[in-house]
Amino acid sequence: MDKFVIYQSKLFGSVRVSGSKNAALPIIAATILTDEECVIHNVPDLRDIQTMLAILQSLGKSVEFKNGTLTIGSKPNKSFLAPYRLVKTMRASFCFLGPLLAKRKKAKVALPGGCIIGPRPVDLHIKGLRALGAEIFIQNGYCHAQAKELVGQHIYLGGAFGSSVLATDNVLMAAVLASGETIIEYAACEPEVEALALFLKKMGADINGIGSPVLRIKGVKSLFGCEFTIIPDRIEAGTFIAASLATRSKLTIEGANPFHLTSVLETARRIGAKINIGPDFSIEINPTSNLKPVNITTLAYPGFPTDLQAQFMACLCLASGISLITEKIYPDRFMHVPELNRMDASIQRSGPYAIIEGKDKLCGAEVMASDLRASAALVLAGLTAEGKTQVLRVYHIDRGYEQIEHKFRKLGAKIKREKQ
Ligand code: EPZ
Repeated sequence: MDKFVIYQSKLFGSVRVSGSKNAALPIIAATILTDEECVIHNVPDLRDIQTMLAILQSLGKSVEFKNGTLTIGSKPNKSFLAPYRLVKTMRASFCFLGPLLAKRKKAKVALPGGCIIGPRPVDLHIKGLRALGAEIFIQNGYCHAQAKELVGQHIYLGGAFGSSVLATDNVLMAAVLASGETIIEYAACEPEVEALALFLKKMGADINGIGSPVLRIKGVKSLFGCEFTIIPDRIEAGTFIAASLATRSKLTIEGANPFHLTSVLETARRIGAKINIGPDFSIEINPTSNLKPVNITTLAYPGFPTDLQAQFMACLCLASGISLITEKIYPDRFMHVPELNRMDASIQRSGPYAIIEGKDKLCGAEVMASDLRASAALVLAGLTAEGKTQVLRVYHIDRGYEQIEHKFRKLGAKIKREKQ
């Protein structure tokens, strides 16, 4: 296992964000819906992507991945099993369920384990697919599904915590080949869901309401191969915005879509950064030296993203006052709190709330990465802390950030990867 060794650093210059992991993953699953070749550009080279491609190959697809471009074709093997040994490492693979049902009328997908950020239910996925006529039962940790024919329905997909990104993806991918019209009410509106819908449209799907909470899909007989470019990763961009604030370094972020970051940029302004958007949509962050405390509530898009909660908490550990973070999406997503407190932060957690009392500085320590985004928060904390910080188990970070230590080193960070 690898670790990062990090020392206090000032950052400078510009960084280019990669393609979005969370847009690429469901789009890879959607290639099951056609037997024709799909070419997908700007795909980040990440562990989660490699896992998804391994499952795709086990389902009978040919895969070539070179310089960020994926070429996916079909082979005669038409398996419908997504094996536990691969699915258990990444929840997103559950979104093979919808396309397998739609195209092969049968699916056996391992249930995603829970993970460090809390329970990961799939009730909305199952509700939506059953509404389209699928027979689904759970047995031995697998979700077994089959359907002679999928028939369009009016489906309400809101759950106890609001909309669901991957449940929307699964039902959308099943509906595009269902007979008749499907209406998905309370669909997730994340840019990554919008990107999947645009990919499906390029394949010949009939979808209206893209980007809105109501999707209207008219089923078609078959879908074609297509060429598509993955949108920039807004969470990676937000992580560098947080890095700029935490280290009080002026940074320019290139290749991001500022329109996907409105709530994040607004929060950065409230904490004390001047933001300039360039003619090429580059984002220049100029933080003040005195970070102001703010209250943040994580919400579905376009609210503040839960995937940036940990990174912005690391910034608020250095604000001049008391901040409150309310986690409305994953109330247990606070594994980074005890680790930040080991770096002399002063954070109290109570249920879905974290109260952060800002301090002048953090102190370097040996800390443990846990979930993907909490690990990024520990890297940011290490870049600001006095002394040496070691972040262990950085394989968590490798799941979702392409060459993060190289990108930070190019910005002047004192960070290096070592064998643990
Ligand atoms: C996606 O996960 C993202 N993953 C997550 O990013 C992200 O945190 C999450 O959306 C929320 O934005 C990918 O896109 C691969 P949800 P997803 O279903 O779709 C509850 C990262 O770091 N829920 O939108 O699994 C659920 O418990 C990852 O890149 C149900 O109740 O999340 C949560 O409270 C972490 N029933 C809320 O909905 C269901 O059937 C939102 O979850 C499904 C979800």
